[in-house]
Amino acid sequence: MNPIAQGLNQIIGVGNPHLMEMMSDLGKQLFFPKGILSQGAEAKEKAFKMNATIGIATERHRTMHFASIMDHIEGIAPEESLNYAPSSGMLSLRKAWQNALFDKNPSLAGYKISLPVVTCGVTHAASTFADLWINPNDAMVLPDKMWGNYAMIFSIRKGTRLSHYPLFTEKGEFNVEAFEKQLRKESEASGKVTALLNFPNNPTGYSPTVAEADKIIRVLIKLAEEGINVIAVCDDSYFGLFYGEEVFKESIFVRLVNRHSRVLAVKLDGATKENFVWGLRVGFITYGCQAQGDPLKVYEALEKKTAGCIRGNISNASHLSQSVILKSMNDERYEREKKEKFEILKKRAERVREVLGNKRYHEAWDAYPFNSGYFMCIRLKSVDAETLRLHLLNKYGVGLISIGAKDLRIAFSCLEEAEIPELFDLVLQGVNDLTGLLPASPAF
Ligand SMILES: Cc1ncc(COP(=O)(O)O)c(C=O)c1O
Repeated sequence: MNPIAQGLNQIIGVGNPHLMEMMSDLGKQLFFPKGILSQGAEAKEKAFKMNATIGIATERHRTMHFASIMDHIEGIAPEESLNYAPSSGMLSLRKAWQNALFDKNPSLAGYKISLPVVTCGVTHAASTFADLWINPNDAMVLPDKMWGNYAMIFSIRKGTRLSHYPLFTEKGEFNVEAFEKQLRKESEASGKVTALLNFPNNPTGYSPTVAEADKIIRVLIKLAEEGINVIAVCDDSYFGLFYGEEVFKESIFVRLVNRHSRVLAVKLDGATKENFVWGLRVGFITYGCQAQGDPLKVYEALEKKTAGCIRGNISNASHLSQSVILKSMNDERYEREKKEKFEILKKRAERVREVLGNKRYHEAWDAYPFNSGYFMCIRLKSVDAETLRLHLLNKYGVGLISIGAKDLRIAFSCLEEAEIPELFDLVLQGVNDLTGLLPASPAF
């Protein structure tokens, strides 16, 4: 094993030996190479005469560039847009995102978490997480309603066993009992289990209530107390878009930090969905755990392993994207803009709820509970979801996502408020076309 990796493992193992038990074989091998990057950093500090270390090109001591490129990047110097960013991301952005995590999650006050490591969107954060913490055939417990790409990221690429529990009880509450049962079943043989918590959930748009979040947290801590190593990985892609009064408005991550030595909490989040910059591809991985002595030493070692993983994969995320996001976060308009867009999405969610209250839809489908995020999902009672999807697309020019035999996902994030009644009328019309019933008279 590389001596730098050994050194990092030693720091982590001394801080918390259970973290080393949880880490994947690949994770144990990972390290951040000294090589070119550290020599470059040393030269940046000391090479006052000539610095010929980095794999970029300069001209008159400035970053070489085409005017035809820079004409489109107004206000951000080539050094902040065209140069490479560090593998772990721009330090200033990492600090800004960390500060924002404390602001958005008041329960974090007084706790220590790692600096977020920048990834190329949340997808890459999830796949980097898997590299570090998942061995082939490890079980990952997640709900039956999930983002489809988890299958590619975890199952196909890493050989993870995806183990599902029903997200909802008959009453439409979060199914804590099924969640606990599945975690227990999967931890029996190995003494390790990974729970993926994605709230607001894709595809249903559900987030737990305060009472449900408490129960989820209690289950995870109880398992750790019984000697099971628990990794709780929170995919918080849609964080902050919580509409219902009753919803738990922080990340489950923050309630697991420093709770038990056998609990590793990992937060995957990003500017992509939260700040509406999907194509800029900026996400983050943040760690929260318990450690003997100074937890920052353990966090730093975890950050270095994560950066090493990124170095060997995409090398680093777009510097331009990171600069744009940081500048936006530091802009005086930022908080107002966030609130404004939140209100637009919240109103759409409320309109969907209002429209769905109409009895005329009740024979055709049930809506899964939703209170957050970009989506909501309906469960069709009489027609096949894919057949209806194709019919709506071909006859009415309406595009929705079918999931399995019965579920249709509707991204109300992409609908103007005024379009919402018409959309559901068209879905009902489509159902009626397929079941041969008389057309329903429009209610709106
Ligand atoms: C639950 C969930 N996680 C992660 C992602 C990926 O986000 P990103 O665009 O940041 O890779 C998505 C995108 O659809 C998602 O729904």
